Amino acid sequence: MYSPTPVTCIDDLRLLAKRRVPRMLYDYVDSGSWSQITYRANETDFHSIRLRQRVGRNVENRTTATTILGMPFSMPVVIAPTGVAGFLYPDGEMAAARAAAGYGVAYGQSILSTCSVEAVRSASPGEIWLQVSIMKDWSILEHQIRRAKEAQCSALILTIDFHIEGQRHVNIKNGLGIPPPMTPSAIADFVGHPRWLLSMLRARHRDFGNFTGSVKSVEDLRSFARWYATEPYQLDLGWEVLQRVRDMWPGKLIIKGVLDPEDAHEAARIGADAISVSNLGGRQMDSAPSSIEALPYIAEAVGSKIEVLLDGGIRTGQDILKALASGARGVMVGRAALYGLAADGEKGVRSALDILHKELDRTMASCGITSIDQATRDILWSPQHAGAREPRGEARSAQISR
Ligand SMILES: Cc1cc2nc3c(=O)[nH]c(=O)nc-3n(C[C@H](O)[C@H](O)[C@H](O)COP(=O)(O)O)c2cc1C
Repeated sequence: MYSPTPVTCIDDLRLLAKRRVPRMLYDYVDSGSWSQITYRANETDFHSIRLRQRVGRNVENRTTATTILGMPFSMPVVIAPTGVAGFLYPDGEMAAARAAAGYGVAYGQSILSTCSVEAVRSASPGEIWLQVSIMKDWSILEHQIRRAKEAQCSALILTIDFHIEGQRHVNIKNGLGIPPPMTPSAIADFVGHPRWLLSMLRARHRDFGNFTGSVKSVEDLRSFARWYATEPYQLDLGWEVLQRVRDMWPGKLIIKGVLDPEDAHEAARIGADAISVSNLGGRQMDSAPSSIEALPYIAEAVGSKIEVLLDGGIRTGQDILKALASGARGVMVGRAALYGLAADGEKGVRSALDILHKELDRTMASCGITSIDQATRDILWSPQHAGAREPRGEARSAQISR
């Protein structure tokens, strides 16, 4: 990954990604729906949360290791499922899954990935959590679940906020489509990124591998596009429908896209093992609360009945710690990993994970804690929580004049 200055944070990877891939693809990643209120709030709401700096503690022996759904990980981070990562980097999902395995975290694979779950399994011995959606034709999900079992996926992520797509203005304006358009401006965009273009010629996987073989009429990108245009998602997603998926998959089940405490209760009632508090990275309903805003209410409502994850807006290790302290057992990272992938494939994803890990570890030390289970509400700053009182008249003016 060539960079004129050292890569020190996720934003550096974002800028490299922006340079490396065509504008149309970068915009696809780095955008939200409609006015992008939720998309922005996912990040900015983290900024208004403060951590308590603690001193006078022994923070010599620290570990970020933890378990999620009983599985041991090197840190409380999972790579979130993101569609068509294989257009950012050749065979991108295989590269990202290898990076995740090497780092000791789980890889969430989108059902809309270019590489099939079998291809990703062949590339990575690590934990793969396959994300699925409910289609009108249930035989598709049945087939995909069979494939997930055969590929030894250790969890299924059922995304339930994806069936009505939020409008992303920028994608429409760019003419983004499947297959990618061949308009003069799109061609100029692709040709203007020769390194990306040449690398994509090496890709072994260029279609939607989890649908090829699971949908009769889908054989390649064009037939997938024809089938996808028929609006195949089921819109009846009542809890009794979701219960049916619970019954089809005996392993760990995560319901992704929960933003309301009442829905979190329902997820627990149908026997899900975890939920992810998520608004699909601000790509669906605009003006929904940010994930971090909704998290404490949901965590409080479900208590220990179900594990609670968060995804949306994680860009730093401090964000991870804030999410844990607000009730999450772990977080999923979407764009942070995608920026790394677009910047430099497996190495770039490893770099993203490494940045998050180092930031998390050092910030734990500054908070005076040495293990993930100590990341409770107690590490969040609030005058009341910290036992502080408003400085009174005289003391306050003395402070100000100093
Ligand atoms: C480019 C892109 C594609 C995505 N595709 C999917 C998908 O196929 N399935 C899904 O459940 N979530 C998808 N997501 C949402 C992510 O799983 C996750 O909820 C989101 O990225 C978290 O926000 P963050 O990007 O700020 O970390 C996608 C997100 C992005 C940015």
